[in-house]
Amino acid sequence: MIRHETSLRSPGGSVGRSRTRRVESRNVGWRIGRAHEPRGGDLWVPWDRTAGVIGPQGSGKTLDLLTPALLSAPGAALVTLTKVEDMLLSLTERTRRDRPCVVLDPFGLAEGIAGRFVGELLWDPIAGCVDPKIAERRAKAFTAGTVKGAIHGGTGDDAARFYAAEAAKVMQAYFHAAALTGKTLEDVLRWVANPQAASDPGEILRRHSHAAAFWHGLLHGALNGDDRTAGNTITTVQQTLGLFFQADIRKRCVPAPGHRATDLAEVIRRGGTIYLLGREDPYASASPLMTAVAEHVLDTGLALANQSPWGGRLCPPLLACLDELPSTAPLPTLRTRMANERALGLSFIYAAQTRAQLTSLFGEQESRALVGLTNVLVMFGGSKDVAFNQEISDLLGTTRVARKSHQTGHRGGRTISGDDIAILRPEEVRQLPEHQALVIAENAKPIIARLSRCIDGKAGHQLQADQHRLREQLTTGRRMVITPEARTTAALVEAKRLGLVEANISAPAPAAGHEGDLW
Ligand SMILES: Nc1ncnc2c1ncn2[C@@H]1O[C@H](COP(=O)(O)OP(=O)(O)O)[C@@H](O)[C@H]1O
Ligand SMILES: [Mg+2]
Repeated sequence: MIRHETSLRSPGGSVGRSRTRRVESRNVGWRIGRAHEPRGGDLWVPWDRTAGVIGPQGSGKTLDLLTPALLSAPGAALVTLTKVEDMLLSLTERTRRDRPCVVLDPFGLAEGIAGRFVGELLWDPIAGCVDPKIAERRAKAFTAGTVKGAIHGGTGDDAARFYAAEAAKVMQAYFHAAALTGKTLEDVLRWVANPQAASDPGEILRRHSHAAAFWHGLLHGALNGDDRTAGNTITTVQQTLGLFFQADIRKRCVPAPGHRATDLAEVIRRGGTIYLLGREDPYASASPLMTAVAEHVLDTGLALANQSPWGGRLCPPLLACLDELPSTAPLPTLRTRMANERALGLSFIYAAQTRAQLTSLFGEQESRALVGLTNVLVMFGGSKDVAFNQEISDLLGTTRVARKSHQTGHRGGRTISGDDIAILRPEEVRQLPEHQALVIAENAKPIIARLSRCIDGKAGHQLQADQHRLREQLTTGRRMVITPEARTTAALVEAKRLGLVEANISAPAPAAGHEGDLW
């Protein structure tokens, strides 16, 4: 982390005015805030350092840290989020200077905006899966999204990770088989709907000479174990692509005739922004899809870095701004990527509400390693996670204070002893006030930073005005919808026509006010 007061000086530049060249700070890193305790200047995180933000809902993760970082990122950005409001806040700014913005919006939260102010991200999960390596990575990314970031970790999470791995064997086989035979997502969905009856994928893998060797066996093994295991595997496979079983979601995300797949490499090359918009919904999680798309975007960035004339680095860097990581895109590769790719021009900032969420997603060891590998850890107050607060307090260590004691009487005198006390006690970590956060950066001493909220000040008001203007354009929920009663009546008429029900069964009485909707 860099602390700096005024302007950064060019390497080798002397203090003399003539040699000083102003380097635009946003090209070097993003600003966390000001050092408050101990007092000091501005705190900056260089783009080649990873950052993790942990704080409860409403503590300011998005507005105080992730959005400011995103707004100042000089290059392309991958953004995962759960709230359309957060996207509207940064969208206008991120489209300036002719930079493209695209959004993956499975639930139609940005309807009215998507396709007009921001491009729709269309992506074909099968594209590229003739390559078994791609098929395997994609399957693993999709299934990783089925492991939920539950608030409390438990044994259920281990089971979820086991079935995610089993389901990945099936998914990789399906993606590969579909790509080998030019089949579409719809064919894959047919297989996924009833894996034990689907003989095509096995047949393709067995007979096609370009098919990866032994995958036929992997597929057969995963689907034909004991009943309970196979049943759970199949359920997980179906969860993996669950979102796509809704036709309107499929239409919003997948290319179709006349709607070409988004050229993500081009968006990255032009310094654009890729928003992946999910939502917090335990019934219809977008995590599998969002994780797979996020992995694909990062792999695309990595491929561009390899071709780059800047010695294998992406310059300016691609920022992965992973808000609400556990409920948006729990990337299975995050830890490895953070370790290897930050030096290649891929920058990472993630946010989660608790450490326990990360543990239930990645497991104890892996989440510990993830937090350990994070260069700059920012913690908000308000967390009731006693164990984590204790851990942070232990991490900060102790300081030695001198203690004087006076004794009176015959042998009276003064003794001085040293006492070790915690730099920050666990309850003090919880009591950090709003607009402040504890910053633990690499080998530096801990600092309490005073943060700036991106919606404050003149620039903040402009952001809010832009957000307001875009919000007016949202048409979600304002469309003409056919009432459920009307649909029920129409469905019953069709059922009678097909002879699925007896002709004398009558439709339920329409609710008041809806009479005549259809007739
Ligand atoms: N438009 C707004 N105007 C004023 N306050 C807001 C606005 N949007 C959010 N806030 C407040 O800012 C705080 C931080 O929000 P946010 O950064 O979204 O929290 P987090 O991402 O940690 O859940 C919240 O307490 C929220 O109530
Ligand atoms: Mg947030």
